[in-house]
Amino acid sequence: MLVSGTGTNLAALLDAARDPAYGAQVVAVGADRDGIEGLARAERAGLPTFVVRVSDYTSRDDWDAALTEQVAAYHPDLVVSAGFMKVVGKRFLERFPMVNTHPALLPAFPGAHAVRDALDYGVAVSGCTVHLVDAGVDTGPIVAQVAVDVRAEDDEASLHERIKAVERALLVDVVGRMCRNGWSVNGRKVELS
Ligand code: GRF
Repeated sequence: MLVSGTGTNLAALLDAARDPAYGAQVVAVGADRDGIEGLARAERAGLPTFVVRVSDYTSRDDWDAALTEQVAAYHPDLVVSAGFMKVVGKRFLERFPMVNTHPALLPAFPGAHAVRDALDYGVAVSGCTVHLVDAGVDTGPIVAQVAVDVRAEDDEASLHERIKAVERALLVDVVGRMCRNGWSVNGRKVELS
């Protein structure tokens, strides 16, 4: 699992994985920065962690190669990006299937400020998306989405908190189904078996 922030999605997956029937385990947690709660959570859970910082490499390609090697060491069946604020490169994507969770209903509001952008636009409904990762920013085929109503009194923090509650449940559901049963991709359509 790859994180850059507080890791509440990670916590939800760890909770789910306590039940052997869930059918998936988190094998390691990586980040692009130190000192984040996501890594602390992983350490408290006794999981291996690693940090691969872009600034430690002379090129983005070298960073991508280093990240690929680190992740490969744990032999994941699926890489889960939850709040990981970096775009991985071609090498990484050729090696691992990867899903990302995004706090908006894609293709609306891709990028790092999705909740703010949706509020600024004035939408009445937003939500979250779990999608396969491709070379673009939040452009990969959609696996599942859930809508969340925007309330008149919402600010970025309150809307994001409500989205995150739904997002954690969606991610747990989707990752479990993908790992238990597999999936297939036909153009932009992702079918969970
Ligand atoms: C999630 O809303 C994710 O979609 C967004 O950042 C948040 C990460 O939350 N990109 P957490 O670190 O799992 O608590």
